[in-house]
Amino acid sequence: MTTQIYLDNNATTPIDPIVLTIMKPYLEQIFGNPNSSHSIGLATHEALALASDQLYEALNIPEKDTLIMTSSATESINTVHRSVLSDFIKNKNNTKTQIITSSIEHSAVRKSLAYLGEFGIEIITLPPINNSVSLESFREHFNPEKTLLVSIGLVNSETGIIQPIKEIAELCHKHNVLIHTDATQAIGKISVDIQDLDVDYLSFSGHKFHAPKGIGALYIKNSAPLNPLLHGGGQMGGFRSGTLNVAGIIAMGEALKIAGEKLDLHSKNMLQLRDQFEGFLSQIPDCIIYGKDQLRIPNTTFFNIPKIDHDYLAWYLNDNNIAVSTGSACTTKTIDSSSKTDSHKGVRVSLSRFTSLEDITTLLNVISTLLK
Ligand SMILES: Cc1ncc(COP(=O)(O)O)c(C=O)c1O
Repeated sequence: MTTQIYLDNNATTPIDPIVLTIMKPYLEQIFGNPNSSHSIGLATHEALALASDQLYEALNIPEKDTLIMTSSATESINTVHRSVLSDFIKNKNNTKTQIITSSIEHSAVRKSLAYLGEFGIEIITLPPINNSVSLESFREHFNPEKTLLVSIGLVNSETGIIQPIKEIAELCHKHNVLIHTDATQAIGKISVDIQDLDVDYLSFSGHKFHAPKGIGALYIKNSAPLNPLLHGGGQMGGFRSGTLNVAGIIAMGEALKIAGEKLDLHSKNMLQLRDQFEGFLSQIPDCIIYGKDQLRIPNTTFFNIPKIDHDYLAWYLNDNNIAVSTGSACTTKTIDSSSKTDSHKGVRVSLSRFTSLEDITTLLNVISTLLK
């Protein structure tokens, strides 16, 4: 494989070499099952406890609350949704029949909720205003008497726009309604304080912040109910059965610790590089940068140059050894289902703390050549 400039860090990130070093012994010598009572199994306990402490500390999770390790954000999200479904099915006299979400959610949220729809739960999907979930629209459609759950993401994966989850959570809790947020694009990129955000459930994946793939987590507030998705050996306090991904958990703890320690510095560096790139884009006639003046995570630029097809641009960049992705953002203003979704296509460039000035300079040069 030729050397690639990797600018698709919202899809996944390379594993941090320090994280790899720390997890490796747990794939090799210390390979035991933490549930075993012999010394090879018990040898995993100390590092697992440290990883748990690192995660609780990084997210400011109170001791009384629970963080369970899963295989992915997708599993965490499905766990919350299926838990609500289980209660809905068990309770024959439901007065609450609705779940509120938005149309800019990742497919892990949208498709999981669509499945719940097959059981008679009404999924209310809020369209965004300027790529953002509108508080006004939320208030308009929020009927606490009927709402089982609100499930809205903290950061949109295409545009990087931060959504008003704290304000939505406040409204939910005023009316004793449960709220879940998919924080997959937020964790490791911006500071997330679970007590401040005050949600009941929060999902994320380690591979978005330089841990390996195959490890995720689900936060569950002490007062929030949870029916397990996976039944079996009773691991994770019975909330998620299955032998622990020991090396993955250790890696995720270390990766989040590293991300948190230098968050301000990494954000500043990424913002500088992004500003440079967006300054260049601003000079291209009619180029649109979605959410340019909105609150965004520091690593993401989602843009469209009308005179170049977005798929062609991504292909051309790949041909020049630069990896980006394509996607679409919606800016619909109405909830009326008969109205059309105003979907804008574009290219997403997403940086990481390993992105260099040379990477961005090469990106600018390659796009400039194409524009000539
Ligand atoms: C916002 C968001 N939610 C959920 C997911 C799913 O994450 P995973 O594939 O790790 O389960 C992603 C992955 O891109 C995402 O960006």
